[in-house]
Amino acid sequence: MSRMNKNIVCIGAGYIGGPTMAVVAKMNPDRKVVVVDINAERIKAWNSKGYDLPIYEPGLVDVVKEVRGRNLFFSTDIRKAVKECDIVFVGVNTPTKMFGRGAGRASDLQYWEATAREIKEWATGDKIVVEKSTLPVRTAAAMDAILNDHAKYGFTVLSNPEFLAEGTAIKDLLEPDRVLIGGPSTKAGAAAVAEIVSIYRGKGGRWVPAEKVLTTNVWSAELTKLAANAMLAQRVSSVNALAGLCEATGADIDEVARVIGADRRIGPKFLKAGPGFGGSCFKKDVLNLVYLCESFGLHTAAEYWSQVIKMNDHQQERIVSRLFKEMFNTLANKKIAVFGFAFKADTGDTRETPAGTVVRLLDEEHVRISITDPKAIPNAKKDLADLQGIEYQTDPYKAAKGADAVLLMTDWKDYPGLDWAKIFKSMRKPALVFDTRNCLDAAALRKLGFKVLNIGK
Ligand code: NAD
Ligand code: UGA
Repeated sequence: MSRMNKNIVCIGAGYIGGPTMAVVAKMNPDRKVVVVDINAERIKAWNSKGYDLPIYEPGLVDVVKEVRGRNLFFSTDIRKAVKECDIVFVGVNTPTKMFGRGAGRASDLQYWEATAREIKEWATGDKIVVEKSTLPVRTAAAMDAILNDHAKYGFTVLSNPEFLAEGTAIKDLLEPDRVLIGGPSTKAGAAAVAEIVSIYRGKGGRWVPAEKVLTTNVWSAELTKLAANAMLAQRVSSVNALAGLCEATGADIDEVARVIGADRRIGPKFLKAGPGFGGSCFKKDVLNLVYLCESFGLHTAAEYWSQVIKMNDHQQERIVSRLFKEMFNTLANKKIAVFGFAFKADTGDTRETPAGTVVRLLDEEHVRISITDPKAIPNAKKDLADLQGIEYQTDPYKAAKGADAVLLMTDWKDYPGLDWAKIFKSMRKPALVFDTRNCLDAAALRKLGFKVLNIGK
């Protein structure tokens, strides 16, 4: 089969499927790429005339404008797409299981298995099936068993986990540190790996340099993805564990982290203290690792990784405790303006956002809460639909009006440049700013009259 004929379908048009396939299509103009989903509303948004896409990522609209209708298509017709493709990427959600065995830790693989059965049912020829979702080690064995048992066609299952981070998805995809492809050491496995490598090299080798495309066995690839997220999460928890000690001793976490990170063996990234990590993956993937360790009888390793989550949860409780103490041990009926609800800047995603946990803790204290965020208000409203009386404002000045405190939870780049004198004037006194991201100029705020709290100082 010529390269031209190796069409791609991606099942799952979410944060991973949409941006990844847009860039795959951009860098492989000679391949047809179809992204399918059972969620018709999402597909409609991906196809919307005004490019009102279902997710926000800097630079995403430009890539979609370039490729949609050229060689990238979004559809709900999974059957047709599977029939017509040669390569199936599966990027469906794999949330933490909330019932039965492994509840609260293991991956819920029901969506995953459903796609395997769909692929098998609708295939009309051999296919390469690529795990794009993050999965427990040895999921490919289950996938292989379902696909190839009494099958008319041959299915080769590979693992190609994605390392992009939200907010920088397009940049991460265009210039990845590495691409990982795990495959079986059979003849068909080697051919399938070569095919997926050629996608990432891009037309004419213009995308990922060959030395950055790493190949391993399937189990290493599956485990590496969980391990990479666990190591990143562990760094954040380590720095947050030091932040409390800094507050107690007069050390400054930003200074400590800067010097630790200057050691080339450690490096400066992922050493920023803050409200704790959020996002759809860190917690889920660490819990998954904990569950895997337990399943294999590695209880001490399981305990080690579970501390990463415990430390993270503690960080949000600590934020509320400090507010409580600083605001005269009563928060009832005081107004707190939450600046930023997204789990990090440059995304509207609020899954597992530390701001959500903190808002719920504040609500228990009968705080009057106003939330402002440039991108995440629609998701915040959905997440907090069960809470009464929350005020939502896209304008931070309106959110802060009459407030006793501003609680900065997301480091949106516009926040340091706001007119803080104007905000101060509109607030009730004493006016407090708790900057949980250490991104504001604390000295300048103090000069204006604010009382300022930071993490780790
Ligand atoms: P998501 O919920 O945004 O998207 C998943 C999509 O799959 C949904 O639109 C859902 O409707 C669709 N889907 C579910 N079952 C389906 C089926 N049977 N047929 C067709 N479509 C189906 O999730 P996401 O954030 O894109 O994450 C997907 C996977 O990628 C997860 O395993 C996650 O761990 C991994 N991942 C995500 C990121 C990220 O930045 N979000 C990064 C790396 C890896
Ligand atoms: C993370 C990983 O960085 C990606 O490599 C991975 O592909 C992805 O998870 C995934 O599997 O979904 P993401 O969650 O999008 O990406 O964003 P990160 O930049 O990793 O931030 C995660 C959380 O940690 C955020 O809440 C962020 O604010 C926090 N963080 C990050 C810190 O508090 N301090 C830091 O130094 C870095």
